Amino acid sequence: MQGKHYLMIPGPTSVPPPVMAARSMPVIGHRSEDFVKLYQRVEEKIKKVFQTQNDVFIFTNSGTGGLETAVANVLNPGDRVLSLIIGNFGERFANIAKAYGAVIDEVNFDWGKDVDLRLVEDKLNSGPGYKAVLVTQNETSTGVLNDIAGVGALIDGTDALLLVDGVSGVGGIEIKADEWKVDVLVTASQKAFMLPPGLAMVSVSNKTWGVIERNVSPRFYFSLPAARKSFANWNTAYTPNVSLFMGLDAALEMMLNEGLKNVYDRHLLLARATRAAVKAIGLSLLVEDHCASPTVTAVYAPEGVGADDLRKVLREEFGVTFAGGQGILKGKIFRIAHMGFADRMDIIIAVSALEMALARLGYPVELGVGLRAAQKIFLGEGEVA
Ligand SMILES: Cc1ncc(COP(=O)(O)O)c(C=O)c1O
Repeated sequence: MQGKHYLMIPGPTSVPPPVMAARSMPVIGHRSEDFVKLYQRVEEKIKKVFQTQNDVFIFTNSGTGGLETAVANVLNPGDRVLSLIIGNFGERFANIAKAYGAVIDEVNFDWGKDVDLRLVEDKLNSGPGYKAVLVTQNETSTGVLNDIAGVGALIDGTDALLLVDGVSGVGGIEIKADEWKVDVLVTASQKAFMLPPGLAMVSVSNKTWGVIERNVSPRFYFSLPAARKSFANWNTAYTPNVSLFMGLDAALEMMLNEGLKNVYDRHLLLARATRAAVKAIGLSLLVEDHCASPTVTAVYAPEGVGADDLRKVLREEFGVTFAGGQGILKGKIFRIAHMGFADRMDIIIAVSALEMALARLGYPVELGVGLRAAQKIFLGEGEVA
């Protein structure tokens, strides 16, 4: 595409210059002393993001590979699993477990809603004794944030392991892996970590290791015991993407320099401004305030305007890419990401482009009304009527 482009999808997200620079450093050998130092630096920093004392393993694959790592190392055929599904990625996590022969008890919540903890409690009380509970921290397909602390508190004290897909949350939304009793936490490079796709990060609790050692499912590239063996020498079992490791080092440095609380607050602010703007324009949000994602906002296309037609105008005329709907929401919603290397002026661009694209498609938008709502939030003047 010609001209300046604004990538506002929930992954891959745009990559900041210091991360690009780090990634274009000369490649180093992965069995070198330099790599040892790099992994040590990355590990020290990433544990702060995960808020864990456990090891965080870094694999060269996408987020789905990270989820498969969790499943392949924990679940055997016939194991009973509780899958909490609020959208497309909850379904994917369950499907991976199915592929490994687990027997899935699915609890499906309406797309756009979060997990209802009362139902989880009922299931845990009446269920067969689950080996694991699978849940998505931030459901990217709908822009819903789940209460992982709440799920963790319910599972604490049971034998079940809590496996969390944090692919589009970790790094942009606070998570306390240890305090919230998350046994395996998975995330990936191309979302809030501001990197291109290619790395998955996976933390593993002590409670999980006993299960992993006894596990008989086939695993090779995704073997956590193999990863742990190499990790003892600050290494990876197989050749890692060293350039992405260098980028991750720089991205983590940026995040810690900004301050993690500031990073999380920034995401919350951007979400709040986006939601206020969308409402002011007169469009409907998919998700209620109490469980709205800080990293991605889903919006219904208005009557008479196709979500994908709108996205086409945004992309082709204004150089702005929003994501479309997935699964049952395909063609009905569009999603605006404010994830990773995103700041207030990105929202101003997104809202401005949205208003113009709506006007172009004949929707009666009062130009500037959404912008004003976002600006008010950024000026600390609260929501506009
Ligand atoms: C919540 C969530 N889980 C899993 C994935 C899959 O990750 P990947 O596309 O990196 O395999 C995504 C990707 O969008 C996601 O948002």
